[in-house]
Amino acid sequence: MTKRKGIILAGGSGTRLWPITMGVSKQLLPLYDKPMIYYPLSVLMLGGIREIAIITTPEDQTQFQRLMGDGSQWGLSFTWIVQPAPDGLAQAYLLARDFLNGAPSAMVLGDNIFFGHGLPETLAAADAQPMGGTVFGYRVADPERYGVVDFAPDGTVRSIQEKPEKPPSNYAVTGLYYLDGRAPDLAETVRPSARGELEIVDLLEKYRSEGSLRVERMGRGYAWLDTGTHGSLLDAGNFVRTLTDRQGLQVGSPDEIAWRSGFITREALLKRADTFRKNDYGRYLLGIASE
Ligand code: TTP
Repeated sequence: MTKRKGIILAGGSGTRLWPITMGVSKQLLPLYDKPMIYYPLSVLMLGGIREIAIITTPEDQTQFQRLMGDGSQWGLSFTWIVQPAPDGLAQAYLLARDFLNGAPSAMVLGDNIFFGHGLPETLAAADAQPMGGTVFGYRVADPERYGVVDFAPDGTVRSIQEKPEKPPSNYAVTGLYYLDGRAPDLAETVRPSARGELEIVDLLEKYRSEGSLRVERMGRGYAWLDTGTHGSLLDAGNFVRTLTDRQGLQVGSPDEIAWRSGFITREALLKRADTFRKNDYGRYLLGIASE
C-alpha cells in the first residue's frame, strides 16, 4: 500500500469570528501559546504522516508559509495548495488530487483540536485500513450543529445527516477523515448542495452506501474542541492553558512530536530550541532534548 498522505484544510471565511478574521486566517489565531494550525498538524504527525498538503485561501498562503516553511524543521514535507473560494470540505480532495497521486489520505480541518490518551493508537488503527473510510464520532451535547451519525441497532452506520433538526444520535462526525485512494474520484461525483458547497457528508455517503464507511467512536476520555466562535475559541485556549500549566507538558507541539517520533535529530531540535531561546517554549524544547 502507498503510504498515507495528510491534508490540512485551512481555508474558509471564518465569518462567525468577524471582525477578527477579516484581516487574518482563523487557523493562524492563537490558541493559548501556539497558532491554531499547530494542533491539527500535531494530530497528523501523531498518526505518523509526514507528507502533508496545506490548503489555504489565496490571500493567506504567504502568511502560513512564513510561519511553517517547507516543513523540514519538523522532518516533514509540505505542499502548498490554494482553494480559490470556500466551496466546501469535499473540494479539498479535488484540489489535492495531484498531491495524493492515488495514495490514501488523512484530512484534518484546520480549526479542530483533538486531545486524549491513546490517540496515536486510534490513528494507527485507522491507518491500517487501506480500503474504505474511517471517521470519528464524538458525543456532543448539541449534535444539531454538526454532521450526525445515525446508527442502526447492529452498530452499522445508517446515514450521516448534516445539521439535522432532530438528531438521530448524539454522535457528531469530527473533522478528521481517513479515506482511501479513491477519494478524489468519488469527490468528482459529488454535486454542490443547496448552499452551493461540495459537502463532506455527501462524499462520506458514497463510502457508506457501498458499506465501506467505519465510524470509530472517540470515547469520553477524549477532548474534541472546535474554535469557530468567540466563546469556543476562548474555551479551547483555556483548555490548552490548563493542561499545559498543570502538567508542565506542551499540548500540540510539532517540535516535541517530531523529536519523540524520530522525525528529527537532536541537533535539529536544539536548533529550534535556540530559535525560541528567549521564551518558555525554547526552554521547554531544550529540556526535552536533554531528558
Ligand atoms: P467552517 O467552520 O464550516 O467554516 P469557516 O471556517 O469558513 O467559518 P464560518 O462558518 O465562521 O464562516 O469550516 C471548517 C474548517 O474547514 C475551517 O478550518 C475552515 C475550513 N474550510 C475550508 O478550508 N474550505 C472550505 O471551503 C470550508 C467550507 C471550510
